[in-house]
Amino acid sequence: MCGIVGYVGFEDVKKIILCGLEKLEYRGYDSAGIAIADNNNVYICKEKGRISNLRECMDGTVSGKLGIGHTRWATHGVPNKINSHPHQSSSKRFTLVHNGIIENEEELRHKYLNGIKFTSDTDTEVIVQLIEKFVGDGESVELAIRHTMSELKGSYALAIIDSEDMNTLYAAKNKTPLLAGKGEGFNMIGSDAMAMINYTNIFYEIEDKEFLKITRDSIEIYTIYGNRVLREPYKADIDASDTEKGTYPHYMMKEIEEQPFVIRKIMSEYSDDNGNMYIDPEIVENVRSCDKLYIIACGTSYHAGLIGKQFFEKIAAKPTEVIIASEFIYNMPLLPENPLFMFISQSGETADCRAVLVKVKEMGYKTLTLTNVKGSTLSREADNTLLLHAGPEIAVASTKAYTAQIAVLSILAAMVDNRVNIDIFKELSKIAYTMETLCDDKDNYREFAEKYLVNSRNCFYIGRSMDYYLCLEASLKLKEISYIQTEGFAAGELKHGTIALIEQGTPVIAVITQENINLNTRSNIKEVKTRGAATMVISLRRLSQETDAIVIDDVNELLSPLAAIIPAQYLAYYAALLKGCDIDKPRNLAKSVTVE
Ligand code: G6P
Repeated sequence: MCGIVGYVGFEDVKKIILCGLEKLEYRGYDSAGIAIADNNNVYICKEKGRISNLRECMDGTVSGKLGIGHTRWATHGVPNKINSHPHQSSSKRFTLVHNGIIENEEELRHKYLNGIKFTSDTDTEVIVQLIEKFVGDGESVELAIRHTMSELKGSYALAIIDSEDMNTLYAAKNKTPLLAGKGEGFNMIGSDAMAMINYTNIFYEIEDKEFLKITRDSIEIYTIYGNRVLREPYKADIDASDTEKGTYPHYMMKEIEEQPFVIRKIMSEYSDDNGNMYIDPEIVENVRSCDKLYIIACGTSYHAGLIGKQFFEKIAAKPTEVIIASEFIYNMPLLPENPLFMFISQSGETADCRAVLVKVKEMGYKTLTLTNVKGSTLSREADNTLLLHAGPEIAVASTKAYTAQIAVLSILAAMVDNRVNIDIFKELSKIAYTMETLCDDKDNYREFAEKYLVNSRNCFYIGRSMDYYLCLEASLKLKEISYIQTEGFAAGELKHGTIALIEQGTPVIAVITQENINLNTRSNIKEVKTRGAATMVISLRRLSQETDAIVIDDVNELLSPLAAIIPAQYLAYYAALLKGCDIDKPRNLAKSVTVE
């Protein structure tokens, strides 16, 4: 969701900024823009739509060594060329890109900017006009930016060019991700490491309310009060090739097929020298000693949390509650004396999760983040972190991060208290193998998608118990990329109202991986079939019947979602492909949602 990138150095900046923007595409956007400082002029090009539009309309003769770029996901003002970033101050001295939302923009307009003519509907324009106003009042550029930061309420990652100093890139951050990248003869900033990874893998984390002054030779970090901050950089363990599609037609397919590898990688990352499961003892003890575990997450990560609850309660006998992050603040449960809060977030940046993290930290509770992104905000701010080791996930629809979350949760639960004596590593090895055989069967899933889904307006996934939670994720995958309205439903609950929606030919996909629910779910399939539904069953081999469409080799029932999600991911993929949808970048969605 919105991304920024900036560069100051020695190479032609156009290529570098466009490359950075393309790397940020996965976050989701509806328009893009770039500013290049070129011989005391600032050249701006911005367009609605894809970055390829920007490439097409850009003046090829412009070149410069300082530039900023932006992908916009509209919040204030419709997605159009005028509202796209960069935005400029009235005199055009300052040019700025912004990721985030300014909550008090109206108040600031009235307080400081009466008489200023605004050209866009964005909150961002207020920031750039304020900087110019404070400079006009006699403040230095640095002071004016810090003064502006102190006036802003809300979230921002900013990159700023002053046309009177073409050697310096300014940046600032509050509540929205920003990293600085250190190079040889150049320096960069970006919303994430991916935006810079083709050029450097050495980064500085930037904290909230910090201000940066960057030249080709130095990155200076300051507090909002102007005090210099000295910080060591870190080396990111990703390289540029991790972010490429290779021979795959889409990132989503690449990421689906990486899942067996990710499961094996997780086993190696979470094992000791003897090959036994290993997780930092402090983390294990924090879970063991809490009265209740609260899992806070959104979207796919929330669905992984629902499976995690089953692990913590069934394997470790630890009471667990899973709560959608954006609901927690309003419906805070009555908390026991010693709760532990676990945040599950692929990106580690989701603003809804962060709001809860800030709140529970204020209340003095212990926190743990499960994330794919080392150094992300939720990771930095929680007491402890468990990494997913899934490698960069680029497709907006999450696949390998979901299974990685479930795998790590199963290991953690078994480390806390393995009451059912499950050999997690043995079972995960089986899962990785089964995932491979399921991936080999993808042509079949394509046929099913063609037969059942492509021409449907709506669809249901039904299941009970663990299968129900799996169905929630399976239905999210299908709806988010194919736009077929899909509901994941508790199979037994369907008859209490929703069955009214079943018509001749409505696809109903049932998932059966648990012995204790097999017969009941099969009764529910009959109920919908007699009302005209086109039914399809995904089942475990030992529970399967001859007519079942997709049969999964037997795996441990507790871990079965890890296998059963594979056909569901492919069904979504092929339904979207056959409908001609933009698989990796579905409409209206963002990968990293940094606004509440
Ligand atoms: C967005 C994405 C979803 C994702 C959710 C949570 O809505 O489109 O795919 O599941 O955010 O993201 P997180 O990074 O916190 O797991």
